[in-house]
Amino acid sequence: MGKPTVAGMYDYYLGGVHHTAGDREAGDRMLRAMPTLREVTRANRAFLRRAVRYLTAAGIRQFVDIGSGIPTVGNVHEVARAEAPDSRVLYVDVDPEVVALSASLLRGDDRAVAIEADLADPAAILGHPECARLIDPARPTALLMLCLLQWLPDEVVVPSVRTLREAFPGGSFIALSHPVAPPVNDPTAAVGEVYRATGARAATARTRDELVALFGDYVPVEPGLTWVTHWRPDGDPGVPDPVGMPLVVGVARRPER
Ligand SMILES: C[S@@+](CC[C@H](N)C(=O)[O-])C[C@H]1O[C@@H](n2cnc3c(N)ncnc32)[C@H](O)[C@@H]1O
Repeated sequence: MGKPTVAGMYDYYLGGVHHTAGDREAGDRMLRAMPTLREVTRANRAFLRRAVRYLTAAGIRQFVDIGSGIPTVGNVHEVARAEAPDSRVLYVDVDPEVVALSASLLRGDDRAVAIEADLADPAAILGHPECARLIDPARPTALLMLCLLQWLPDEVVVPSVRTLREAFPGGSFIALSHPVAPPVNDPTAAVGEVYRATGARAATARTRDELVALFGDYVPVEPGLTWVTHWRPDGDPGVPDPVGMPLVVGVARRPER
C-alpha cells in the first residue's frame, strides 16, 4: 500500500478519483478522529468557488493558487472563466505527482498552468518562467492559499507570505482558509499521528490573530475572517451547517497607494 499524501487524502474526502489505497486507509482513520472532515473539505471547496467569483467580480484576472492540490471539478480556472474568460491561473504545488496530474488535465491550455514549487521558496515561484509568462506583476493579482499554511511552520509561512503579498500592487487580494480548532498540532492527537505518515509535519492550527497578521497591509473584506460557511454564503444547498467546522476563511485586499 503506497504512502499516503496530503493531496491524495484530501481527494478521498472530496469523493474524487485520484487517490491510492494508502490515502483511503489513512483517510478513514482521520474520518474516525474527525467525523466532520468530509463536510469541512467540501465547505472549503465551496468557499473557493465563492471567493473566486467575488474576486473576478472585483476585476481580478490573474490568480496564483499555491498548494492547489489535485484538480477537482470546480477548479479556479473553471470558476474564474465562467465569469471572466480572459482569466489566467498559475497553480503551484510541492507534490510532483499532483503537478503531473494537473499538467495532464490542463494540457493544451496556455492560460492555466501547473508548476512544481515550494511555498518555502517564494522567489522560485515568482521567478518561474511560467509565472513570468502568465502573471503580470504590475497588475492586481489574487493569491490563494487554501488549506495550505497549516502544513508549514511560522518560520516558513511568515516570511514567504510577506514576500508574496509584497510582490503585487494595490488592488491585489489574498484568500486564505486555515484550521483554528481543535488543536491538531497536539502530537498525541490521532490527527497528528495519521498525517505524520504522509511525511508532512503535524498540521498547525493557528489563532485568528496569527492569521489576520498574515494579511499584512491587505485589509480583510467583509465579513472578515470567519467560519468557512459564513463567508458570503450564496444559498448553495450543498453548503453544510458550520457546526463542527474548525476552519476559518478570509479574503483581504491591498489598498491602492
Ligand atoms: C489539503 S490540499 C488543499 C488543496 C486546495 N488548496 C484546496 O483548498 O482545495 C494541500 C495541498 O498543499 C500542498 N502543499 C503542501 N506543502 C506545500 C508547500 N510547502 N508548497 C506548496 N504546496 C504545498 C499539498 O501537496 C496539497 O496538494
